[in-house]
Amino acid sequence: MLDVYKIRKDFPILGKKVNNTDLIYFDNAATSQTPNQVIDAISNYYKETNSNIHRGLHSLSADATNKYENSRSIIKNHFGAAYEHEIIFTSGTTHGINIISSGLEKSISSKDELIVSEMEHHSNIVPWQMLCEKTGSKLKVIPINDDGTLDMDEYKSLLTPKVKFVFINHVSNTLGIVNPIKEIIDLAHKNGSKVLVDGAQGAAHFKINLQELDVDYYVASAHKLCGPTGVGFLYGKSELLNSLPPYQGGGEMISNVTFDKTEYADLPHKFEAGTPNIAGVIGFSAAIDYMNSIGFNNIEVYEKELLDYATEKLKKIDSIKIYGDINNKISVISFNIGNHHPSDIGSILDQYGIAVRTGQHCTQPIMDHFNIPGTVRASFSFYNTKSEIDLFIDAVKKASKMLG
Ligand code: ALA
Repeated sequence: MLDVYKIRKDFPILGKKVNNTDLIYFDNAATSQTPNQVIDAISNYYKETNSNIHRGLHSLSADATNKYENSRSIIKNHFGAAYEHEIIFTSGTTHGINIISSGLEKSISSKDELIVSEMEHHSNIVPWQMLCEKTGSKLKVIPINDDGTLDMDEYKSLLTPKVKFVFINHVSNTLGIVNPIKEIIDLAHKNGSKVLVDGAQGAAHFKINLQELDVDYYVASAHKLCGPTGVGFLYGKSELLNSLPPYQGGGEMISNVTFDKTEYADLPHKFEAGTPNIAGVIGFSAAIDYMNSIGFNNIEVYEKELLDYATEKLKKIDSIKIYGDINNKISVISFNIGNHHPSDIGSILDQYGIAVRTGQHCTQPIMDHFNIPGTVRASFSFYNTKSEIDLFIDAVKKASKMLG
């Protein structure tokens, strides 16, 4: 079991006052908060080790390189990749997706089809639309059902021999729904298609094993799992990453440079041009260590308890509509009350020190599906409590009354 009050002491920001009241942070799907263990790892790096990596022969540089590469090893082990060189450090999920979309420009043609779903974040839609524009390939969309789940029958019928790639999220950032990702991957592979999974929301809430999933590419961001912003990773199977051209040219991504011909470095450096976010990578692995010290099983069980508790209480409020109210979901609740605009509810909640996200959550197609301007999204983390949910429910009721 997890001791939430002890855990909360690790997060300095949770003691903050907002609008003269204790902060209640329910915007974890946008970004999670950062524990002292991660803040200290970053600050200690700058105090004791700051130096460029893979370049200097001096001791400080060797120490920084070791810490950076050790972080790769922690992340490889945590996510169950086969090799360290299959973990490429990026600035985040969006960067990882763009590395692949740009890398595919020469191998995708106008004869090919690509699949996304109606529940994708814009970052898993727009780069593929750009790829289609450049290559003449066709983008097909798996629709969602009215309960927010993917229409799997439609997915199966979209999987024709022309489909080269399926781009799909593990968990919907807006609805919290966990997709049947293994089934999606297996069906794609039987069809001869490759799969990229956007793991931005999945990686923070349960343990993932990339080899068991047999996924081709997986992308995620550190800041969703208690790590710093501006860092994430792209996982790819070695043979696939090897077949792609580099994304950016520069230092560190080469093995030999002449004006006649430049040869690129091996993985992972081929995709890590320039000085990387060294402190961020070290903070990322500290976050993984921190979450493992709490235990992903404990996190999963506790967050489900918070989700069920909040869902049950919210459902008792008049005219509430929850989108994606199914069993298999993480601790995210998207809702509206009557015809009240989600931003109006969000602004009133902010007066009570409660942080939620309102609007389209970078998923306009979901909003279009439900024919709504947006939702109020409350997303809980393992450091939130039931008493915070009680205060949130009271504030939602007050907001609803105030808006008439
Ligand atoms: N993708 C993040 C969210 O869902 C920013 O809020």
